[in-house]
Amino acid sequence: MERTFLMLKPDAIQRGLVGEIISRFEKKGFKLVAMKMIQVDRTLAEEHYKEHRGKAFFEPTVQYIMSSPVVAMVWEGKNIVALAREMMGATNPANANPGSIRGSYGMDISRNVIHGSDSVESAEREIALYFTPQEILAYTKAGEEWLSE
Ligand code: PPS
Repeated sequence: MERTFLMLKPDAIQRGLVGEIISRFEKKGFKLVAMKMIQVDRTLAEEHYKEHRGKAFFEPTVQYIMSSPVVAMVWEGKNIVALAREMMGATNPANANPGSIRGSYGMDISRNVIHGSDSVESAEREIALYFTPQEILAYTKAGEEWLSE
């Protein structure tokens, strides 16, 4: 099954949005297979955003995800990378659909509440950055048979 990496960023934790956001993915039918709350250090933050090194927003973005604990998660589901991005909304909350997560809970690109992998390849890279294979759990979730044929 396709997997994605999602991170609830420091503002989501500080603003008490953790349960609200996780609930959206649960209700969609996706399956949570790994989750932990961590304090991201500089090495991990720079590795996470390395494709943006040299851009003006690189350092502020690194500072932002180091600024408070985050919740790192792996979720599974059919076409989950694209569907989770749809649920998150545009990178800049100012442009995000009002029903999306960023459209509902954010207003500025520097505090956009959640990170989600932008491709299956990025998902695998990001999952491996934050989790060991042993931390990703395989289990049967009640009701899976009602999600698709
Ligand atoms: S881009 O514009 O294609 O390089 O952006 P993208 O690949 O979608 O992700 C860029 C990440 O940096 C965060 N960020 C910003 N992006 C663009 N412009 C500004 N000013 C900016 N400030 C911060 C943005 O939220 C993306 O991080 P994630 O964690 O993926 O949301």
